[in-house]
Amino acid sequence: MTRASLDKQPHEVASMFDDVAANYDLTNTVLSLGQDRFWRKEVAKAVDAGPGKRILDLAAGTATSSLPFAATGAYVVPCDFSVGMLREGKRKHPHLPLTAGDATKLPFHDKSFDVVTISFGLRNVVDTDAALREMFRVTKKGGRIVICEFSQPTWAPFRTVYTEYLMRALPPVATAVSSNPEAYVYLAESIRAWPDQRGLATRLQGAGWSQVAWRNLSGGIVALHRGVRV
Ligand SMILES: C[S@@+](CC[C@H](N)C(=O)[O-])C[C@H]1O[C@@H](n2cnc3c(N)ncnc32)[C@H](O)[C@@H]1O
Repeated sequence: MTRASLDKQPHEVASMFDDVAANYDLTNTVLSLGQDRFWRKEVAKAVDAGPGKRILDLAAGTATSSLPFAATGAYVVPCDFSVGMLREGKRKHPHLPLTAGDATKLPFHDKSFDVVTISFGLRNVVDTDAALREMFRVTKKGGRIVICEFSQPTWAPFRTVYTEYLMRALPPVATAVSSNPEAYVYLAESIRAWPDQRGLATRLQGAGWSQVAWRNLSGGIVALHRGVRV
């Protein structure tokens, strides 16, 4: 069993996700108390996919995050670097063009997508800024980025309870439902170490994105960041 450490060595991250691939979707739903479905609906609204649009779903894992975009008739490319996650995704969704690729060195031409999106993936990428620059490079002028990621609850008392819940409750619950509970220790640690809403917005601007803004979901447990390539 593998868990990544906070320096997020790519081979450790990929192999950790290889290990959890089989139970990944179910574990997410259990641990988020069903909130993951609501978050995905909000991502779909922000991405606003439709026929004729080209969407890159980066760090797509098993491609569950790609389904709402594909359902609109858009052309969606789910991309990930974990072979285990891609294999599980291909088994479940054989019609989708799952593609192996590293977020810091994307295997796509410049300006090839209308929207690039990443759900619960950016936090795991070894070099956040490189990934944001790569997402910028492959986006058409006028195209958009949508990032869905864990963030910081905005109400301080809740933030404290939440942090306690994460650090104490997540690993024991994960032991019951996950094939790799250690991965959920990493999850809790990586959420605590991740920049807050404003911090991530600044990183987006640094990578070239304009009109950067965000919206909190579930009181800031999750934030949806967006930006435009002008
Ligand atoms: C928590 S999963 C999210 C999967 C999916 N987006 C979802 O919402 O269910 C994070 C994914 O990020 C992928 N990942 C992490 N670093 C990556 C990188 N540098 N390049 C591509 N994928 C990466 C992992 O392999 C994993 O499948």
